[in-house]
Amino acid sequence: MAFNHKVHAGDYQIPCLYCHTYARWSPVAGVPSMERCMGCHASIESDHPEIGKLKAYWARKEPIPWVRVHTLPAFVRFSHKRHVRADISCQTCHGPVERMVRVRQVASLNMGWCVDCHRQRKASIDCLVCHY
Ligand code: HEC
Ligand code: HEC
Ligand code: HEC
Ligand code: HEC
Ligand code: HEC
Repeated sequence: MAFNHKVHAGDYQIPCLYCHTYARWSPVAGVPSMERCMGCHASIESDHPEIGKLKAYWARKEPIPWVRVHTLPAFVRFSHKRHVRADISCQTCHGPVERMVRVRQVASLNMGWCVDCHRQRKASIDCLVCHY
């Protein structure tokens, strides 16, 4: 099913961390549980077909099979926590997600992209920081 960031994070200004709670505490940002969606959508009356789909997944107690957009190769070590706590905004790496109807990848996520910022911000560029 499709999720609209522009409606949620843009028009209604729901904070990124309200849904991606783990980004501050763990390596992964994670996608929100259906409980989080239903906290609002149990009461928001709408005949939008995508909300119908959400409620059908909920009724079947089946998790929504979101399609993953960003991926790094398995030999790369990355952690949201360190970056979020260094006050790097989500948008620095993910672009203006609050204006995206469908979230898409804007940064290359290649090694040069990581290393350039590490140089600028005086973070480590030791190979073993990012590679196992
Ligand atoms: C109401 C909940 C909600 C809010 C608020 C929200 N997101 Fe999301 N986000 C989701 C869901 C659900 C997905 C998985 C579906 C998808 O990829 O669109 C997702 C996916 C993403 C992805 C893609 C993950 C991947 O698959 O690689 C990024 C990046 C992202 N969100 C960033 C943000 C940022 C930045 C903000 C704030 C500007 C934000 N989100 C606000 C629910 C939310
Ligand atoms: C903090 C409250 C809140 C949360 C949490 C929330 N939503 Fe929404 N959602 C809204 C509001 C408000 C609207 C706009 C309703 C309208 O305009 O009628 C909306 C609209 C939608 C729509 C229809 C709009 C569109 O164009 O796609 C879908 C589908 C939807 N939400 C799915 C989800 C899913 C899936 C989650 C969990 C990942 C979620 N929502 C979490 C408040 C929320
Ligand atoms: C320093 C760059 C950077 C920042 C800052 C950043 N991200 Fe990410 N994000 C990434 C990379 C790289 C990936 C791919 C990670 C992987 O494949 O292991 C990713 C993946 C994700 C995903 C996919 C699921 C997951 O957990 O891997 C979501 C959702 C996401 N980011 C949301 C956010 C949100 C919300 C914020 C702000 C609170 C944020 N990101 C801040 C670089 C960043
Ligand atoms: C926009 C800037 C920026 C980008 C892009 C970025 N980083 Fe970072 N990264 C930082 C900063 C700043 C720190 C230091 C945070 C701190 O002091 O805790 C850091 C820290 C780290 C750490 C922890 C270092 C340690 O000492 O444990 C890892 C691992 C890491 N980054 C991996 C990556 C990878 C992999 C990528 C690319 C996929 C990436 N980073 C992209 C700015 C960035
Ligand atoms: C700040 C994080 C970071 C640092 C530091 C880093 N790398 Fe990487 N490296 C990455 C990322 C992300 C990728 C995967 C994306 C890509 O291939 O560009 C990667 C990919 C690679 C690859 C595979 C390239 C390919 O084409 O498959 C090699 C080999 C590599 N790195 C070696 C190194 C060596 C040697 C060092 C130290 C001099 C180093 N890396 C330092 C993040 C980093």
